[in-house]
Amino acid sequence: MIRLAVLTSGGDAPGMNAALRAVVRMARATGYEIVGIPHGFTGLMAGEYRTLSARDVGGIIGLGGTLLGTTRCVALKTTPGLQAAVASLKQHAINGLIVIGGNGSQAGAYALSRLGVPVIGIASTIDNDLSGTDISIGVTTALDVAVEAIDRLRVTAASLRRAFLVEVMGNRCGYLALMAGLASGAEAIMLPEVKFSPEALMHQLHRFYDQGRTHAIVVVAEGAAHNADQIDQFFTSHPGLASFDTRVTKLGHIQRGGAPGVFDRILATRLGAAAIEQVTLGRWGHLVGYLNGDITTTDLKIVNTSEKRLPSDVLHLANALAC
Ligand code: F6P
Repeated sequence: MIRLAVLTSGGDAPGMNAALRAVVRMARATGYEIVGIPHGFTGLMAGEYRTLSARDVGGIIGLGGTLLGTTRCVALKTTPGLQAAVASLKQHAINGLIVIGGNGSQAGAYALSRLGVPVIGIASTIDNDLSGTDISIGVTTALDVAVEAIDRLRVTAASLRRAFLVEVMGNRCGYLALMAGLASGAEAIMLPEVKFSPEALMHQLHRFYDQGRTHAIVVVAEGAAHNADQIDQFFTSHPGLASFDTRVTKLGHIQRGGAPGVFDRILATRLGAAAIEQVTLGRWGHLVGYLNGDITTTDLKIVNTSEKRLPSDVLHLANALAC
């Protein structure tokens, strides 16, 4: 009998549980045994395995976080760590490993596959910085959370004639900031991918102020060259121009904690099922993702060696509208 293992790894993303549920139930329906590995690659190295039944994953489709728990496992980047992972899989007679996670996790999956481990990755990270998928599990829910928060900040900003610098997650990728800014009608969006200076932003806000605007929302990606605190510090140390009073709000981990929205539940369910299909086809070493409206597979080597770019049309649109 084929015996599979599944783990979640890296930052939790809303929809990971829906993916787990689909993986476990489709695996069992296909006649495979499936075990869950708690705490990601750390649990794998430590040999923590837990058999999962269809009932074990009941009622989790709408829950954020991950039933299995997750870690950021630095040890997997080392040769002894990889060897311990391979040995653990052998010892527990695992014929295939399914890794639900983002960039770092799929790098780990690829490293294991290069050592001969049959692996399939499922694209899951709120950052949407993973190649091989247009959108990853968790992104749309994180965006909903961010946009709801920004809408609220706009209300208080308008009441007090303020500019809010709203910092959103995304690691070194500006996708969340760009889309949250576009969806909330932000006056300016500061991204890691686009060079900017706090001084130019200060003058832009001053112009808006002179035009009689009541407030402004500036969405700042956490990975931007100047983060929200640094921009604010620049503003306060250059008080010459009469402009908005500013406030900083960092949305931080709140963006990861939402219950998955409908899109993420369905995406996660389809990707989980697609991973089991790949097992049946004997196609290992791939990431299952969502490209051009279809569920697709991409070689983990390509996933790990290509850079994901921001959609340039959206970038232009955001610039054209923030005026
Ligand atoms: O990878 C998702 C993410 O939320 C990034 O956006 C952020 O930079 C990072 O995780 C935060 O990591 P941690 O939860 O380890 O603080």
